[in-house]
Amino acid sequence: MDSAGKPLRHFLTLLDLSPDEARALLERATELKRLIRSGKMHESLKNRTLGMIFEKSSTRTRVSFEVGMYQLGGHALFLSPRDTQLGRGEPIEDSARVLSRMVDAVMIRTFEQEKLELFARNCQVPVINGLTDRFHPCQLLADMLTFQEHRGDIRGRTVAWIGDGNNMCHSYLNASRLFDFELRIACPDNFRPDLEILAGAADRCTLLQDATRAVKNADLVVTDVWASMGQEQEQKERVRAFSTFQVDEALMAHAARDALFMHCLPAHRGEEVSAAVINGPHSVVWDEAENRLHAQKALLEFLLSG
Ligand code: CP
Ligand code: NVA
Repeated sequence: MDSAGKPLRHFLTLLDLSPDEARALLERATELKRLIRSGKMHESLKNRTLGMIFEKSSTRTRVSFEVGMYQLGGHALFLSPRDTQLGRGEPIEDSARVLSRMVDAVMIRTFEQEKLELFARNCQVPVINGLTDRFHPCQLLADMLTFQEHRGDIRGRTVAWIGDGNNMCHSYLNASRLFDFELRIACPDNFRPDLEILAGAADRCTLLQDATRAVKNADLVVTDVWASMGQEQEQKERVRAFSTFQVDEALMAHAARDALFMHCLPAHRGEEVSAAVINGPHSVVWDEAENRLHAQKALLEFLLSG
């Protein structure tokens, strides 16, 4: 239970939401986007606070949560391990207990999913996953909102994931269950997604090694960097392993004619995506980035006010 007597909800993976809740959240995000664009302030989280712990770099996640809290009438605090006691070895459990007494919710970007879970177990306020090595669920809320805006309901559509079986790929696997779409993953043999997460979506997911087959008639093509944060030392080896997995115009030509292209950003043009594709007519990456703000405002309202 939280301090207002409501059951405490965390958002550690997409599957913390039911399919109905996830769809309602996208509807609310659309409404909040309309409100802010028409110049109306909607201060549903007046005087509420969000603590944001970042153990990895961020542009979009930090700015969208900070601006989102401000637009809802609240406030966000940026907490870097460089300046907090967490970075000097204060136990995660103690940090969680103390922050619980002061802020209304905590967003964490870190390495291990287990660390996030440990924090959440000891936290009396909602905890949000702002990216771990395993998942990036906030990004998927924005991606699903973006697809819906451009093409309507994603249910029954086909999504192609090209590249690393990483945190974003895992979140696409979870999204395929929650939003009910078919997912084809094309990745090199040694960079497959986690087997357990894959098994959870086995009825709707196909694993391939050939990007062209994965993309065939797809409604949405998605990729991400070949070396994620924390894997910088593997960059050279990964560039070699992924050389046939670039999303370029030749690959996009196999997708549906009106296919969308998404990338969570930051992107490496000339590696996982060509400049022509990311700057081209299929690409909706700027809407996708903006939608982090609207989707997370809906998430914050959902977790903080139900
Ligand atoms: N897509 C995303 O999470 O971007 P940042 O790393 O800039 O937050
Ligand atoms: N897979 C990337 C996503 C960045 C938003 C990473 O973890 O670095």
